[in-house]
Amino acid sequence: MSRKFYYQIQIQSKKQISEDFFSFLNEFSPLGIWVENENKVNVYFLTDPKEIVEKIKNKERSFNISCKKFEDKNWVVEYQKNLKPIKVGKKFVIVHFSEKENVKDIDFKKKEILKLVPGLAFGTGEHFTTASCIEVLETLKPFPVSVLDIGTGTGILSIVSSKLGAKDVFCFDNDLDACKVAKETIELNSEKIFLACSTTDAFRKKYDLVIANILFETIVEISGQIVKLSSKRGKLLLSGIRSEKERDVIQLFGRKGFSLSKALRDENWSTLLFARKTKG
Ligand SMILES: C[S@@+](CC[C@H](N)C(=O)[O-])C[C@H]1O[C@@H](n2cnc3c(N)ncnc32)[C@H](O)[C@@H]1O
Repeated sequence: MSRKFYYQIQIQSKKQISEDFFSFLNEFSPLGIWVENENKVNVYFLTDPKEIVEKIKNKERSFNISCKKFEDKNWVVEYQKNLKPIKVGKKFVIVHFSEKENVKDIDFKKKEILKLVPGLAFGTGEHFTTASCIEVLETLKPFPVSVLDIGTGTGILSIVSSKLGAKDVFCFDNDLDACKVAKETIELNSEKIFLACSTTDAFRKKYDLVIANILFETIVEISGQIVKLSSKRGKLLLSGIRSEKERDVIQLFGRKGFSLSKALRDENWSTLLFARKTKG
């Protein structure tokens, strides 16, 4: 049998690695991307990525880049070994999962265990924008009956919503790769969630909670649809908002009849919960 190899490019940066850079990496169709933290990412390939390394170096000269070749190993298993369960919010533990035996001491039947498959989608729980949304979701009592999750990525916020008691959860993403990961992740967690690969235009129903962890520019672009898709007493959970844009989002949705009821922030990002203003 011929020997198999896979290759790992490790990229380290002094500043936070941008979304644009991830889009750039995705253009090379890697086997997988493992984001260790905001400054460190590992990218996996089946063939020698010498030329890709050069292209990355040319694009980002300040990055520290190394490349390793691994032999005769299942790269997915290797990749999985590096991932550790993480706690998000007060209740949830996220387990990166494709081969159960890689993760010991976890009771996979527990409701608070959220299983994620590796793949090309955002939403592993490590990023503040996702983790803070989960934190806010945990505080909603009673939990909204119907939820629309715009830009679902791995499906993580829909799965959490379903686990917290939402009866009618719909999620979608306009990226086909993300939809594939979300489909697998939803099935793995055995949650009843409707998934579409689509845009906001396709939706007509109104939801008690509309979630959108997408960039500020997209939130602004689809703000009219977000409001239309929200029910009479609907709430909005918006994230992916750079701190300096927070005020703009509060003003924009203020003009559209919503007031801010909660905000979670770190040094870069804001996650905002809005409720419809009551009249009178
Ligand atoms: C930052 S990720 C969030 C993923 C996940 N919801 C989370 O909180 O971790 C944003 C996702 O929105 C998707 N997206 C961006 N613009 C969109 C749009 N206009 N309609 C639907 N999905 C969109 C992207 O493909 C991406 O998967």
